[in-house]
Amino acid sequence: MTTIEGNNAVLHTGAKMPLVGLGTWKSKPGQVETAVKVALEAGYRHVDCAAVYGNEAEVGQGLKAAFDSGIAREDVFITSKLWNSVHKPELVRGACEQTLKDLGLSYLDLYLIHWPTGFKAGDDKFPRDADGNLIYDETPPVDTWKAMEELVDAGLVKAIGLSNFNSLQIKEVVENARIKPAVLQIESHPYFQNTKLIDFCKAHNIVSTAYSPLGSPDRPWAKEDEPKPLDDAKLKEIAEKYKKSPAQICIKFQAQRGVVVIPKSVTPARIKANFEVFDFTLTDDEMKAIAALDRGFRACMPTKEVDGKVVPRDREHKYYPFDAEF
Ligand SMILES: NC(=O)c1ccc[n+]([C@@H]2O[C@H](COP(=O)([O-])OP(=O)(O)OC[C@H]3O[C@@H](n4cnc5c(N)ncnc54)[C@H](OP(=O)(O)O)[C@@H]3O)[C@@H](O)[C@H]2O)c1
Repeated sequence: MTTIEGNNAVLHTGAKMPLVGLGTWKSKPGQVETAVKVALEAGYRHVDCAAVYGNEAEVGQGLKAAFDSGIAREDVFITSKLWNSVHKPELVRGACEQTLKDLGLSYLDLYLIHWPTGFKAGDDKFPRDADGNLIYDETPPVDTWKAMEELVDAGLVKAIGLSNFNSLQIKEVVENARIKPAVLQIESHPYFQNTKLIDFCKAHNIVSTAYSPLGSPDRPWAKEDEPKPLDDAKLKEIAEKYKKSPAQICIKFQAQRGVVVIPKSVTPARIKANFEVFDFTLTDDEMKAIAALDRGFRACMPTKEVDGKVVPRDREHKYYPFDAEF
C-alpha cells in the first residue's frame, strides 16, 4: 500500500513526494520560468522535468527565483528523466550531471528512466536513418538501472525510478536491483486509468505518478475527434457539485486514490486552480463513477505514419512496453 502523510506520498526511502506537482512537457522556454515561479508561489512543492523537454535551463531559472525569494531547496521535490539516447551505462552519469547543471541544482529528488526503449547513443535525441526511421539501442534496462543506482551512491539523486515500463519490465528491474525503484510514472486519466499497473506497483511498494492526468489535450499528435476527458459529462456533473472544474476533478481523483499527479499548465490561473484540490473529498460513489469512465484510451503513445496510416512508434523495439496486458 502507498503510505500518505498529509498531501504527500511516502517513498520507500522515507522521502515525502507531494501528491500534486507541476508538469513541464511542452511548456515553452519563454513561458516555463514564469509557470514554475507561479506554481511555487501558489504552494506547489513538486516540479516534474525531463532532459528531452528541452527547457530544463528555463525551469532552473524559475526554481532559482523561488529559492531567492526564500523557498528552501530541500522543501521542493524535483524529478527529472534519463532520455533514450543515453541508456548505455557509461553515459548515465554525464546525462544526470547535464540535467543538474541545466536545472542549477546539486541533487535531484528523483531520477527516472524515461522509457525502456533506448535509441542510438549520441547527441541526437531522435537519431534516424536515411529512411527517417529511429535507430535503436537495445541496452537491457537492468544494465541502465545499475548505473542509476550509482547516482544514488554518488549523492546526485535521492531516489530512482521508472517511467513507461510495463509490469513485466518492472519485475525484471526489481528482481535485479540493489536499490529498488521508488516511483513509476505512467499515463493515467479517467479515460486510461492504468489501475492494474498502479495496483501492481502498490504491491511492490512503488509509488505511482499519473502523467497526462487531463488527457494531454496539447499533445502534438492529438486529433480533433479523439476522446477528451475534460469534456466528459459525468466529470462536469461532479465538478458542478463542488464548484470545481473537470480538470480539478481529474486531479483530485488521482490524489484521493494515493496516486501522485503532475498536471501541466503555463496559464497562471490554471496553475493555481490545479492545486486547489485539497478542500473537498469525492464520495465513494463518485470515485466509482469516475473509475467506470475508463475506456482504454491511451493518449500518450508515440506514433508514426506508415503508408498514410498512423501506427504506434517503436513497436518493433525489443523493449516496447505497451503490448503487455499491463
Ligand atoms: N514520463 C512520460 O513519458 C511523460 C509523458 C507525458 C507527460 N509527462 C509529464 O506529465 C505532465 C502532464 O502531462 P501532459 O503535459 O501530457 O498533459 P496534461 O497535464 O494532461 O494536460 C496539459 C494540457 O491541459 C491544459 N490545462 C491545464 N490545466 C487546465 C485546466 N485547469 N483547465 C483546462 N485545461 C487545462 C494545458 O494548457 P495550458 O498549459 O495552455 O494552460 C495543456 O494544454 C507533463 O507536462 C510531463 O511533465 C510525462
